[in-house]
Amino acid sequence: MKKKRVRIVRLEAENIMKLRAFVLEPNDGVTYIGGKNGAGKSTALNLVAMTLGGKALCPSEPISKGKTHGESIVVLDNGLEVHRNFNKTRSGGTTSAVKVTNGENTAITSPQAMLNAMCNVASFDPAAFIHMDSAKQRNTLKKLIGLDNLDSGDAEREVLYQERTTANREIKRIEPQLSALGRENQGVPVEEISIKALVDELEKRREHNELETILRHATGSCRSNVEETSKVVGMRNLEIDALKNQLKKKTQFLEQDKALLATQKICAKQAEEKQIAFQPQDVSEIKAQLDTAEEQNAKAREENASRKERKRLSAELKSFRSESDAKTKQIRMIDEVKTEAIANAKMPIDGLGFDEEGVTFNDMPLDQASSAEQLRLSMAICAALNPTLGAVLIHDGSRLDKDSQELVRKMAEELDLQPLIEVVSEGPEVSIVIEDGMAKEPQE
Ligand SMILES: Nc1ncnc2c1ncn2[C@@H]1O[C@H](COP(=O)(O)OP(=O)(O)OP(=O)(O)O)[C@@H](O)[C@H]1O
Ligand SMILES: [Mg+2]
Repeated sequence: MKKKRVRIVRLEAENIMKLRAFVLEPNDGVTYIGGKNGAGKSTALNLVAMTLGGKALCPSEPISKGKTHGESIVVLDNGLEVHRNFNKTRSGGTTSAVKVTNGENTAITSPQAMLNAMCNVASFDPAAFIHMDSAKQRNTLKKLIGLDNLDSGDAEREVLYQERTTANREIKRIEPQLSALGRENQGVPVEEISIKALVDELEKRREHNELETILRHATGSCRSNVEETSKVVGMRNLEIDALKNQLKKKTQFLEQDKALLATQKICAKQAEEKQIAFQPQDVSEIKAQLDTAEEQNAKAREENASRKERKRLSAELKSFRSESDAKTKQIRMIDEVKTEAIANAKMPIDGLGFDEEGVTFNDMPLDQASSAEQLRLSMAICAALNPTLGAVLIHDGSRLDKDSQELVRKMAEELDLQPLIEVVSEGPEVSIVIEDGMAKEPQE
């Protein structure tokens, strides 16, 4: 395979923490750094990060105890040489300065910016990815596959979700209220009886009847007048015979009385006719209606209120249902966009993925993957995060059995990586042994 990534060809340290004078020329592929506990193996690995990564990746006291100056050097196969110098200040602090020269030994301006652009030093350590919390792992992977904005719809989704929950709560509240109202009662009239109209009608009929009574009395009185006057006429006739002298006068009276009688007869007849026309009317029917009107009206009012409430609740329910449906559609759309983005994303290794919780491997949470699987994918992620540099720093190399060591070797080849592995060993796999702060060749 054609090598494309930049390799470290030399790593040096002078008075850096435990390392007094250290030089390592790593292999093109895997380099095992051996030594006892506390010998300075991790420090040797960290030289890469602190030299290339800058202050943020340097320990607080990088200079060896008792010294005032320390230096670390990384030489790359693209001709760049990176020198980081550490100096003690009078107040006891430490300053650091980086210098990068190219193949012609010319210093490069803004060296740290150039190093930052060249490599993502913070991601050299595969274990670092495995030991991240799941949210950070997920974010790292998202960034890596260009899905930084994957969760941008989450806030909107959360709002929609809350709104739908509110709408569904309203549906649950209204539905039992509506069903408690039952069906409309078709037997109950909803028109109210007008009490005023009934009272008016009663009053009218009473007035009518009073008039009829007056007329009846008038008719009676007219009749008795006729009787009285008839008697007078009789008497007058007798008196005419007896009182011939008064005949003339009495005749006049007679004529007058006759005329009066005629008028009175007409009056009597008219009164009788009127009285006949004024037949008494039935009030009991209206009274009966009045007796039941209030009860009937109460029922009508109740039914009307119930219908109105039913109508209102039905409208409210319909509105909340359509709101809930709309939110469900929007949420589904957001979820679909996300699912599609994840499905289309190009993962650095087959089987890698993520869900809402974190990163998954073969659809299982990453921390449930085997150590070998975790090693495989963490190396693949390191490779993806650092497309330019080949260096990968593996601190827990002593945990790698023969198979895992072989896996690392193969992956280094496949992914064009240059792993530096720390092991508590002086065995045959080791390229260099650190002892007493110095590098020494391993014994055969
Ligand atoms: N500024 C310093 N000056 C001198 N010694 C230091 C300084 N800082 C740390 N150390 C020493 O370095 C040692 C740790 O080095 P390091 O972690 O590199 O060892 P290691 O070989 O990786 O050990 P292990 O096998 O346990 O991982 C400790 O003994 C620590 O006291
Ligand atoms: Mg160590």
